[in-house]
Amino acid sequence: GSSIYHVVGGELTPLTGAEWNALGSPAPTVQDPPSPAYIRGILLVNKSFPLPADFGDGLTDETVDAFEAMRGAASSTGLSLRVVSGFRSYASQEALYSRYVRSQGQAEADRFSARPGHSEHQTGLTVDINQTSAGFANTDEGRWVAENAHQFGFIVRYPDGKEDITGYTFEPWHVRYVGVEVATYLKDTGLTLDEYLGVSSAY
Ligand code: DAL
Ligand code: ZN
Repeated sequence: GSSIYHVVGGELTPLTGAEWNALGSPAPTVQDPPSPAYIRGILLVNKSFPLPADFGDGLTDETVDAFEAMRGAASSTGLSLRVVSGFRSYASQEALYSRYVRSQGQAEADRFSARPGHSEHQTGLTVDINQTSAGFANTDEGRWVAENAHQFGFIVRYPDGKEDITGYTFEPWHVRYVGVEVATYLKDTGLTLDEYLGVSSAY
């Protein structure tokens, strides 16, 4: 892509032009991103940054704990949250994606379904809540998630109107665990995770 990173121990740090100049403008080398890619300590998966096929074996403990805390808080206000899709292996994403390609064609499928290796569900840090349809945004649960998920460390990963940045159409049900601090920052600023980490998302 067009971004400049400083690579230290497999960790990518986005560099501004000024920071690059301050390092003496070292000649850049072009290389594939590390996989898995951690930027600012955050595991990044999008169209540009894939995971190895054998990565992941379930939801992480902190994701489960954070979701349970969020579910409890929602429940105390009379709302019901449940996971309808959590961890998905490379193979299960391959089956899902190829089904969408067959039914809707690849260009359309790529707008809402990740290619195998490119799904955040393979990180174990992501869950889909209640219903995977746009109508979720207009339910009490959907509004509550949009307003409160950050308090439990989750972000709505593919916000409305950000397809050009994230690579995906609006998914109000798909939340990604990044921790309370980053989630709150992204909620307050309206930045997507891709913008925060200074990366693009394209095949
Ligand atoms: N629907 C999201 C982009 C996925 O397939 O992981
Ligand atoms: Zn999802």
